[in-house]
Amino acid sequence: MNKYNLKIGFRILITGVLVVLSALLGACGSSTSAPIEQPLTEAILSPDWTSLNAGLIQKNCTSCHREKNAAKFDRATLIFDSEDNVRVEAAKMLEEMSGGDMPPPASKLSGPSAKNIAVFKEWVDSGFKN
Ligand code: HEC
Repeated sequence: MNKYNLKIGFRILITGVLVVLSALLGACGSSTSAPIEQPLTEAILSPDWTSLNAGLIQKNCTSCHREKNAAKFDRATLIFDSEDNVRVEAAKMLEEMSGGDMPPPASKLSGPSAKNIAVFKEWVDSGFKN
């Protein structure tokens, strides 16, 4: 074995060790109680207007669904700037989010987590309790 082959062999060994380590770390991660699909930066919201407005709607929807942008839409009613407006569209919002259609896939925005979509649903199902 020449020097070059030794170098390659060493690289393969290190790569193998890293693969095993990351597999082990992955296994540990999945045994914790935190839901895996929850991005670390997205807090779990509570089923009320204040929390959902700040944590879900403002973060994922109003960059497009706001007054200034209304001209872009066929439907000017779809402006999520108040609780009243959101209540009117809530069922449709839920459907679009759950189906992965909003935010639009073409926008490349990741959108709210499944967990927070479920919290939004909880709020809708409660009859918009606050
Ligand atoms: C990148 C811009 C963008 C973002 C972000 C966005 N939307 Fe939309 N949304 C649109 C556009 C454009 C339309 C109208 C055209 C269409 O229906 O595809 C629309 C339409 C809708 C509709 C009506 C669909 C229908 O067929 O009646 C709903 C409901 C909706 N959005 C909900 C949401 C919700 C909820 C969020 C946040 C989770 C969101 N959108 C985020 C651009 C956006």
